[in-house]
Amino acid sequence: MTKEMKRVLVTGALGQIGTALLPVLIERFGATNIIASDIKPASAAKLPSELIYENLDVRQADQIAALVRKHQIDTIFHMAAILSASGEKNPHLAWEVNLLGTYNILEVARELELVRVFVPSSIAVFGPETPRENTPQDTILRPRTMYGLTKVTGELLSEYYVHRFGLDVRGCRYPGIISHEALPGGGTTDYAVEIFYEAIKQKKYTCFVRAETRLPMMYMPDCLKATLQLMEADFSRLIHHAGFNVAAMSFSAGELAAEIKKHIPEFECTFEPDYRQKIADTWPSSIDDSAAREEWDWQPDYDLARMTEDMLRVLTARYQQGLL
Ligand code: NAD
Ligand code: SER
Repeated sequence: MTKEMKRVLVTGALGQIGTALLPVLIERFGATNIIASDIKPASAAKLPSELIYENLDVRQADQIAALVRKHQIDTIFHMAAILSASGEKNPHLAWEVNLLGTYNILEVARELELVRVFVPSSIAVFGPETPRENTPQDTILRPRTMYGLTKVTGELLSEYYVHRFGLDVRGCRYPGIISHEALPGGGTTDYAVEIFYEAIKQKKYTCFVRAETRLPMMYMPDCLKATLQLMEADFSRLIHHAGFNVAAMSFSAGELAAEIKKHIPEFECTFEPDYRQKIADTWPSSIDDSAAREEWDWQPDYDLARMTEDMLRVLTARYQQGLL
């Protein structure tokens, strides 16, 4: 029987995904049952006033354990991480935060017998030797970035805790996530978010990958849906646990620019690849998510056209109110 989640800690809660996850968790569990945490001070973000906020560095296991005890936490959504581009600039920090941080979370969860833990993974687990089209669930995982390396290890560690200690750990390999609340925090797919802001504000954007670079992407509502759906899935149906491929859409940077141009005809996008091109070139262009579909009924709602329309609608309204 799948145990009930009641008191939830979110690490890295002020990041791109954590920020969007908090309202969904508040609706699902009630604001008084959500403890948001990040290494940043609470003042770094607009948080719902009824929310409990705690400063937490996930590299400090004793801090995590103290928080879990203090707030009687039974579930952790572990969103704290250093993403791919920032990780290549500072691989030592990525190693510490992503690996030690994840190990600490799992150890505290094991020791204090938590109900469930979400440990996100990424398409960055794949590498140049992985099949690029329709990348299978179970395939070659030989990434070339420190971020990818920590994500592969995080998946293996999570599966280890499931099988060795009976801890209920779950996670999916998010594609590039597109959203309009908190800005992305130093990833290779950040261009797919920045392009919308610049299209509205400047009517032009210089993209840091080539036009033909095609990567798997997902709109935030689907990311949140996948996260909650996997966390609430029947454990007995799960064959995989910590590294589910989840797909929604795949497009090239040029196709994204063309889609935006349908709505903003004067928009011009130029392409000047930088160091992030090399990272993008090692990732798949599309992924096979049939395991997620079979084991917990995953299905996305947004494709390129629907996501673009919604992003532009929300950001244009914000721009017109002088808030962008
Ligand atoms: P983000 O960079 O926007 O946010 C991460 C948060 O972690 C930040 O608020 C940061 O302050 C915090 N943090 C950094 N070091 C910390 C530490 N030592 N202790 C506590 N907090 C710390 O990242 P995100 O996009 O919200 O990603 C959330 C998770 O999803 C990560 O595991 C990431 O790898 C994964 N993911 C994200 C994407 C994406 O496109 N956003 C894609 C694939 C996977
Ligand atoms: N969007 C993330 C990144 O680019 C993928 O994990 O780092």
